[in-house]
Amino acid sequence: MLTNFMAWMDKRLPVTDAWNKHLAQYPAPKNFNFWYFFGSLAMLVLVNQILTGVWLTMSYEPSGDGAFASVEYIMRDVDYGWLLRYMHSTGASAFFIVVYLHMFRGMMYGSYQKPRELLWIFGMLIFLVLMAEAFMGYLLPWGNMSYWGAQVIISLFGAIPVIGDDLTQWIRGDYVISGATLNRFFALHVIAMPLVLVILVFLHILALHEVGSNNPEGIEVKKKKGTIKPEDQSKFTFHKQYTDKYDIVDAIPFHPYYSVKDIMGVAFFLFIFCWVMFFAPEGGGYFIEAPNFEPANGLKTPEHIVPVWYFGPFYTILRVVPDKLFGAVAMFGAIIMLFALPWFDRGTVKAIKYRCTLHTINLIQFVICFIVLGILGTKSATPLNNMIGTAASFGYFGFFILLWFYSKNEKCKPVPERVSH
Ligand code: HEM
Repeated sequence: MLTNFMAWMDKRLPVTDAWNKHLAQYPAPKNFNFWYFFGSLAMLVLVNQILTGVWLTMSYEPSGDGAFASVEYIMRDVDYGWLLRYMHSTGASAFFIVVYLHMFRGMMYGSYQKPRELLWIFGMLIFLVLMAEAFMGYLLPWGNMSYWGAQVIISLFGAIPVIGDDLTQWIRGDYVISGATLNRFFALHVIAMPLVLVILVFLHILALHEVGSNNPEGIEVKKKKGTIKPEDQSKFTFHKQYTDKYDIVDAIPFHPYYSVKDIMGVAFFLFIFCWVMFFAPEGGGYFIEAPNFEPANGLKTPEHIVPVWYFGPFYTILRVVPDKLFGAVAMFGAIIMLFALPWFDRGTVKAIKYRCTLHTINLIQFVICFIVLGILGTKSATPLNNMIGTAASFGYFGFFILLWFYSKNEKCKPVPERVSH
C-alpha cells in the first residue's frame, strides 16, 4: 500500500527523488570527523527553538504591563512551562555554541573557499539573522537587563549622522523603549525572523548539495567523469544527477553511515544540554543574567549593562573604540570581515593540515582573540579590560589582513589526490 502511495505521490511531487538526493544517498566524503556534527546539531536546535517557541507563545503576553508577569506565570503555573522556557533559553545559548563551532570548522578546513563561497555567504546571513533573532527574543521577558540591553544597542543607531535620531525613534516606535517596542520585537521574533531563518537554512543546504561537502583533507570528492575505474563506480548507487556529470570518489551514502554517526552526536549533545537545562539553567548568570529576574525599570540602571555571552566579542569591539559611530562601524566591520573571508583568502589549498605554519598560528591567534573579546564583553569596561580588548580587536582584524598577504604565494604541503583513510 505504501509503495503504491509513494508511486502516486512521486508522479505528482518528486519526494523519493529529493529524499535520495539530499539525504539517503547524498554522497558524503568518507572522512568526516566530529567537527561535522555541528551542522545537524544546528538543525536540531533550530527545531527545538521553533517548537518550544510556539508553545511559549501560547501563554506569553506581549505587552509592557503583562510580559514579565506572564513569564513568571509560565514558570510557576503552566504545566511544564518551566521546562519549555528553559529548553528555549538554554537552546539560545546552545545555538550559538553549535554555530560558532560550525563556523570554526569551516575556517579550519577552508570550506568557504571556491566553489563554496555562496554556501558561506548563506551561512553568514543565517548568523546575522540569528543575532537579530536572539537580540529581539531577549527583550521579551521584559526583565531589567532586557530593557537596558535593548536601550544600549538601539541607541547605537543614534550615532548615524543626520538620520540617527529619527531612525532610533522609528525602530523603538516611541521616545523610549516601551510596550510598542516590545510588541514589534515580538512580531519579528516569532514570525518574520524564524521564517527568514528557515528559508536561509534551506538555501544553505541546497547550495551545499550543489557543490558537495568539503572534508578535513580539503579534497574534492566529486571529480570529472572518467576519473575512477568503472569497477569502483559500482560500489555506489548515487543519485543519477551526480553520476551523470561526475565520478564520485571517496564518498559514502549519507544513510546509514552518517545518519547513524549524527545520532551519536545528538545523544552526546542532549546529554550536556539536559544537564545544563535541569541543573544550571541560568548558566551561572551567563545564559540568563541576574538583573533579568527583576522587571524592566526605566529608572533603575543595572550596575553593569552587559550583553548575553554570545554577543560578547562584537560588543567588546564596539566598546573599545572611544567614538560611538566608529565603534558601531568597527562592530559591523568585524562581521563584514567574516562575510568577505572567501576573498581575503587567496590560497587554493583548503585544509589546515596542508597549509603553511603561519596559517595555523594565525588561526590560533584569531581564536584566542575571539575568546578574549567574548570574555571581556561580559565584564565591565575597566581601563585594563579596554586595553586588552583593543589588543584582541587588532588580533581579530589582523587575522584577515595577514591572511590576504600570505595566502597569495603560500608554500603548502602537497595535497593527495584521494582521501587517505
Ligand atoms: C541555523 C544555522 C545553521 C544550520 C542549521 C546549518 C546547517 C548545515 C548543515 C546541515 C551542513 C552540512 C553538515 C555539516 O557540514 O556539518 C552545513 C554545512 C556548512 N555550513 Fe552550515 N548551518 C548553519 C549555520 C552556518 C553558518 C553561520 C556558517 C558560516 C558562516 C555555515 C557554514 C557552513 C559551511 C561552510 C558548510 C560546509 C562545510 C563543509 O562541507 O566542510 N553554516 N551547514
